[in-house]
Amino acid sequence: MQGLVPSELFLFEGLRLDRRGCLFRHDDNGAFVPVAIGSRALDILGVLIERTGEIVSKDDLLTAVWPETVVDDSNLTVQIAALRRVLDQGRLNGSCIQTVSGRGYRFIAPVTRCAMGIDPGAPVSAHGHLWVFSRDGVEPSVRPANERSSELQPSSSILSAERRQLTVMICDLVGSTMLSSRLDPEDLREVIARYHCAVSETVAGFDGSVGNYMGDTVPVYFGYPRAHEDDAERAVRAGLGVIDAVGRLDLKYAKLQTRVGIATGVVVVSEGSAQKRSVVGEAPYLAAQLKDLAEPDTVLIATGTRRLLGGLFEYRDLGGVEVKGNAAPVTAWQVLRPSAVASRFEALRGSALTPLVGRDEELGLLLRRWARAQTGDGQVVLISGEPGIGKSRIAAELGGRLHAEPHIRLRYFCSPYRQDSALFPFIDQLGRASGFAPDDPPAARLEKLEALLTRAAPPNEDMAFIADLLSLPASGRHPLPNLSPQRKKERTLEALIRQLEGLALQQPVLMVFEDEHWADPTSRELLDLTIERVRSLPVLLLVTLRPRFQPVRTGQPQVTTLVLNRLDRRDRSALVAQIAGVNSLPEEVVHQIVDRTDGVPLFIEESTKSVLESGVPLIGIPTTLHDSLMARLDRLASVRLVAQVGGAIGRQFPYTLLRAVSDIPEDELRAALVRLVASELVFQRGTPPGAVYSFKHALVQDAARGSLLRSTRQQLHARIAEALEA
Ligand SMILES: Nc1ncnc2c1ncn2[C@@H]1O[C@H](COP(=O)(O)OP(=O)(O)OP(=O)(O)O)[C@@H](O)[C@H]1O
Ligand SMILES: [Mg+2]
Repeated sequence: MQGLVPSELFLFEGLRLDRRGCLFRHDDNGAFVPVAIGSRALDILGVLIERTGEIVSKDDLLTAVWPETVVDDSNLTVQIAALRRVLDQGRLNGSCIQTVSGRGYRFIAPVTRCAMGIDPGAPVSAHGHLWVFSRDGVEPSVRPANERSSELQPSSSILSAERRQLTVMICDLVGSTMLSSRLDPEDLREVIARYHCAVSETVAGFDGSVGNYMGDTVPVYFGYPRAHEDDAERAVRAGLGVIDAVGRLDLKYAKLQTRVGIATGVVVVSEGSAQKRSVVGEAPYLAAQLKDLAEPDTVLIATGTRRLLGGLFEYRDLGGVEVKGNAAPVTAWQVLRPSAVASRFEALRGSALTPLVGRDEELGLLLRRWARAQTGDGQVVLISGEPGIGKSRIAAELGGRLHAEPHIRLRYFCSPYRQDSALFPFIDQLGRASGFAPDDPPAARLEKLEALLTRAAPPNEDMAFIADLLSLPASGRHPLPNLSPQRKKERTLEALIRQLEGLALQQPVLMVFEDEHWADPTSRELLDLTIERVRSLPVLLLVTLRPRFQPVRTGQPQVTTLVLNRLDRRDRSALVAQIAGVNSLPEEVVHQIVDRTDGVPLFIEESTKSVLESGVPLIGIPTTLHDSLMARLDRLASVRLVAQVGGAIGRQFPYTLLRAVSDIPEDELRAALVRLVASELVFQRGTPPGAVYSFKHALVQDAARGSLLRSTRQQLHARIAEALEA
């Protein structure tokens, strides 16, 4: 049976890291020898190298390496130090892992990414693996050495390409032909370089990867090599950001403008370094066509992208536009700006919600906590659950139930894009509550803020600290005391807490803090202070968070953790029926949705909508869920291969079959499975070799299997059949 070989490895500084997380050093005899270093450090290195040149935040590293636990930053520091000891040996010009103060780490050494090649005549290593010589160096194949070399085939045929849903952004410079005729080539070169730099820096902030650019046309991919649940949103924010960044370039020759086209769709991505990556599918063409149609400094998006964005932005519907090479017109939208809707839940799910299904006990608990809070016995409920399980929905439902009761409602929203921005959720709330308009001058904002804060009767100094927090200039009436940064921060937090106290004296307060997993450290600090303080205030504080982020808040009597579990079968059917409305679905289709969506309301909602739209039973995964499902797999890039092979076997896959089919060395396979189980993507029964694994969600299995090329799947299925017969 042929070996399944991870197709990629990274060469740098005399070292080599392969996708399975093994590090080797080039020794004096020209051979690669394994380097002794811990697996956590290797995981960190993998994440950093995968994103060479980009700043990787500490949170990203912590999440990737300790996916299910909350660990202190110091663990990261220790692992980075261990890595530097190994990697920086003999390096003269500083560390190849740069610390970017307050933002994270960046891998800066030149890296060659290459696919493995196979030389049948290659020597055998001490570890029993075949050493393979290629133009780029010496690489081990995972194929056991005792198999006949004639049976080997290049690994690249197995996993060198994947099917992925990608959002592709293509941008170019307006009037570049004219610039080229007007400018000296050297000056033109500088203009283009500055433009490229502005694009790359902007998209790096959204984790987009820049593809192979031609002159001033730059393709950027969102969703590969790492998927995010919000890739379409990232692409659009990046597009708007590129227009802004290029427009601000200070060049003596010209004022530059950009046009941007964005489209989403399934593509085949062939691996290679970012610049050599090939992306084949409709989306790149469509994005390029839309880019050609875009007016200077505008972003045009296609239908597939628009569908994923809901009310996150304001748009202008351009209707059907003629594009070169397309017989039928293509529907396009121009993105005008981010919308003023602060709640991600409202922007994506809309205001017309179907009635709540189930959750009686959970809602009962929230109502009881509210009743206690109203008497001055302040309460905190941490609502925890996986994405789409209904955390925001139940918080919104409580808000609806309290509609007729006199109370003050405060809502705070954390954003994945503002994790480095201190106190962003609080600043944003104050701006909304004050009624800031985008073009308000600072003096008008100061007046509005003062009117808002006066309701809670703040002492003057609080006003100064809060105005400063909102970047408003100090006024003569409220001068800002001259304090150290630390003291200023403390006073600002105290001022914000006093605001809450002032409001709670007037009416009971329902405070909702959404998505704590994306909160910046200072907001978490303030949240902790608030949790402590609400004990003796008429305040109910609801905090929503995903389980992989679990702050330690045990032992506080006012704090309750509410874990939202999956809906039971009866509630699942009820939810399908509610969404289908008058278009009642055949019973077997309802059963299929109920079975495959595993009780996650978001999965049920999107799958039902997809069936209603297409008019056929559920095939594959709905496009609206694709990014979120792939993001779960990509969080664990080093074990995705195992998930993909497992997914090709089925929802359940026995260890022995996986071992036979994948041919990944046993110790590595076991280690990968441990991580997969720890991430809760799969459950385990028994211990290897007798273990059986099952995907927690059928749709995650579909996503894993669906990311394999048809040809790869066929190859794997042939191996599975062969192994089962043996
Ligand atoms: N019990 C329910 N009855 C009806 N619809 C529900 C229920 N729970 C959730 N939903 C719907 O499912 C979708 C996902 O729910 P929601 O956005 O609240 O999930 P979440 O846990 O907040 O996810 P995230 O972690 O991404 O914020 C929403 O459209 C919501 O209205
Ligand atoms: Mg939510």
